[in-house]
Amino acid sequence: MTAFALRDGELFAERVSLAAIAERHGTPCYVYSRASLEGAWRSLDSALAGLPHLVCYAVKANSTLAVLDVFARLGGGFDIVSGGELARVVAAGGDPRRTVFSGVGKSAAEMRAALEADILCFNVESEGELERLDGLARATGRRAPVSLRVNPDVDPKTHPYISTGLKESKFGIPYADAPALYRRAAAMPGIAIRGIDMHIGSQITELGPYREAASKLLGLVDRLAADGLLLEHVDVGGGLGVRYRDEVPVPVADYAALLRELFSGRREKLVLEPGRWLVANAGVLLTRVEYLKRGPGKRFAIVDAAMNDLIRPALYDAWHAVEPVRPRGDVAERWDLVGPVCESADFLALDRALALAPGDLLAIRSAGAYAMAMSSNYNTRPRAAEVMVDGDRAHVVRRRESVDELFASETPLPR
Ligand code: LLP
Repeated sequence: MTAFALRDGELFAERVSLAAIAERHGTPCYVYSRASLEGAWRSLDSALAGLPHLVCYAVKANSTLAVLDVFARLGGGFDIVSGGELARVVAAGGDPRRTVFSGVGKSAAEMRAALEADILCFNVESEGELERLDGLARATGRRAPVSLRVNPDVDPKTHPYISTGLKESKFGIPYADAPALYRRAAAMPGIAIRGIDMHIGSQITELGPYREAASKLLGLVDRLAADGLLLEHVDVGGGLGVRYRDEVPVPVADYAALLRELFSGRREKLVLEPGRWLVANAGVLLTRVEYLKRGPGKRFAIVDAAMNDLIRPALYDAWHAVEPVRPRGDVAERWDLVGPVCESADFLALDRALALAPGDLLAIRSAGAYAMAMSSNYNTRPRAAEVMVDGDRAHVVRRRESVDELFASETPLPR
């Protein structure tokens, strides 16, 4: 479904006008569609029907409680990378026993909290981490459920900053080292081996790398089984790409068909960690044009959102579609969309053909993933409000931050 579409010449989120949201709640403002979040989750879950599986939403993509709540109500699991994300999952009503904990640098405190919460699995990324976890679990008379995150050394063919499964990457345990580490783990009294895990990268638009990496992983699973070590689940990570511009994403049916081909008849349950695919196109960032500035070489539309609200263009050269909320019939000119932050990298879109006037509202599309979750207070800019639309209602799910809140935890030096 298209949650964001024009109705009578005006952009809507489901049945709510974006202009009305901007009027009422101000800009910049992220707007999410509940129907779109639910639709994405259901289409993935139902594509995998019949195959024992657990969809663990990668919280890092958008950790807003209301978003987690939507997935928790659908019975989803979660993939977390910090104690903070665990606290969010719990606060949103998510089930820690359906939660896997990824990440290369889990602290002792984070491990203790996750053991206490009785999470489904720790995705362990190094020998040192395994030893620490064993010690902490034994100290509290527990056994920590563990998967080893294995690095399959496969090129996901995506942006280098979001490739994680090559052997040069900091992530995971080298493929060749995994069998020996499984043997060590099996002998640790504080460790209960549950599975195996991989995550090769993000915004992947081809099935080939998944096939290659998952096949390698399953080969390892079979070798471990031959040695008497049976695993309960295989976690294939996240990374499924979406369309921002003209990418051709893998159809969910094809992704599911591959997983079906690889997993049908196997004893291990399938675990997935999709982030972007579930949320990216369920959100927009609403922003208002403050000024139009026609320079000698370029035209700048200075808007009230900035790189602190959406860092993807500056960080990855990412392209996000920009749509006027009330499109004008006038002749389009080419504009760079820039924010008020004092950095040349503060741009949201470059060289776009738009007919603009000061005061116009724009929707920056595909801002449901890695937008608010990566936002900052740079330039002492309060973070934007978030609104979730549900049919004909719009709920403020995070109010705009106030400037006072930004320095409430600071203390000047004594006089
Ligand atoms: N599992 C693990 C262990 C991960 O590290 C990630 C993402 C995911 C799952 C979810 O990946 P997804 O399905 O969302 O591709 N900030 C970047 C993306 C960073 C992804 C980091 N890891 C961006 O805005 O493109």
